[in-house]
Amino acid sequence: MPFEDLKPEIISILNTQDLSVTDRLNKICHVLKNSINHYDWVGFYFKNGNKLELKLRTYAGEETDHEIIPFGKGICGQVAISNENFVVPDVQAQDNYIACSINVKSEIVVPLFKNGENIGQIDIDSDTPDPFTEKDERFLEFINQEVAKIL
Ligand code: SME
Repeated sequence: MPFEDLKPEIISILNTQDLSVTDRLNKICHVLKNSINHYDWVGFYFKNGNKLELKLRTYAGEETDHEIIPFGKGICGQVAISNENFVVPDVQAQDNYIACSINVKSEIVVPLFKNGENIGQIDIDSDTPDPFTEKDERFLEFINQEVAKIL
């Protein structure tokens, strides 16, 4: 499904006042995973209190052992420090990478800013090699900006 068609649904989910914020984020994870072919695992990590680590808040896809990721470790931990999108066309080419499943070929992580501070990120794993384009980056930036409004 084209990204533009999903935007109204994302906004509508975020405005669902009778769901908790985590439940709204979880719904978004499922909608993205189910609507976009090359999204096989979708999750939101956030800074864990005052600790220099990320904590998985909610996700759609296979269960992962990596609920806590120290800053600097893996693709996610690097984005916590760099404040920049990280597109990985081939995860096997990365030295600093945390494998969640042998099926994963590629990954994209986009930081989530609240009042200019990098407080978390959306993380997508794909079983397809090199599927992510700038369109994914713009779309995921849009989602994070909308999510930030309800945090
Ligand atoms: N691959 C990530 C770890 C999180 S899993 O993708 C769910 C990384 O290298 O940071």
